[in-house]
Amino acid sequence: MVHILAQGNSILNQFVSELRDIEVQKDSLRFRRNMERIGEIFAYEISKHLDYKEKKITTPLGISKMNLPTSKIVNATILRAGLPFHNGILNYFDTSENAFISAHRKYHKDGSFTIQFEHLSSPDIDGKTLILSDPMIASGASMVIAYKALLERGTPEHTHIVSIISSNQGINYVKKHINMKNVTIWTGDLDDELTSKSYIVPGIGDAGDLAFGNKM
Ligand code: URA
Repeated sequence: MVHILAQGNSILNQFVSELRDIEVQKDSLRFRRNMERIGEIFAYEISKHLDYKEKKITTPLGISKMNLPTSKIVNATILRAGLPFHNGILNYFDTSENAFISAHRKYHKDGSFTIQFEHLSSPDIDGKTLILSDPMIASGASMVIAYKALLERGTPEHTHIVSIISSNQGINYVKKHINMKNVTIWTGDLDDELTSKSYIVPGIGDAGDLAFGNKM
């Protein structure tokens, strides 16, 4: 199941358009905040797919029966670009546990690159709801490496893979390389092209650099 939120009209389109806009994205504070706001929107959408149980809430005037989420959530992201997006999801799922995956592109002499996995910091994810976010699914390789690394910590009951902008190629790669049983993919928008260096076109550019500045 792949949900593409830009296929419906919502305020998300405004935030994604500001991430894409070459002028607006120069304001890194707004860029990070927009990623965070998009994380909040995804959290709200995902919340409709969690498990719920009725609970009686005592108000000053009586008892209100409300369905409240019971799923145990692990909110995971890939460093470093994922941090503001992760924080947005955490703003809504504020009692979730958190996981971080460190991976980077290792470039070879011919200009090609492979994704090097470095470090995993994660709680047990067995039987829990895993939300794995990365703002960009370009080739899809980082997402697959991150997901497989997390599976060393258990088998989630359900996984939500979330990105702000994905390429068609990246989504197909993810679908091909992971077992999609109990996995839902969410993306803000879907772009057609990838450059030879696996940047998404039209995309937004380098999300990590735009959020946090250039790296060496
Ligand atoms: N990562 C980014 O930040 N941008 C892309 O276009 C692809 C991967």
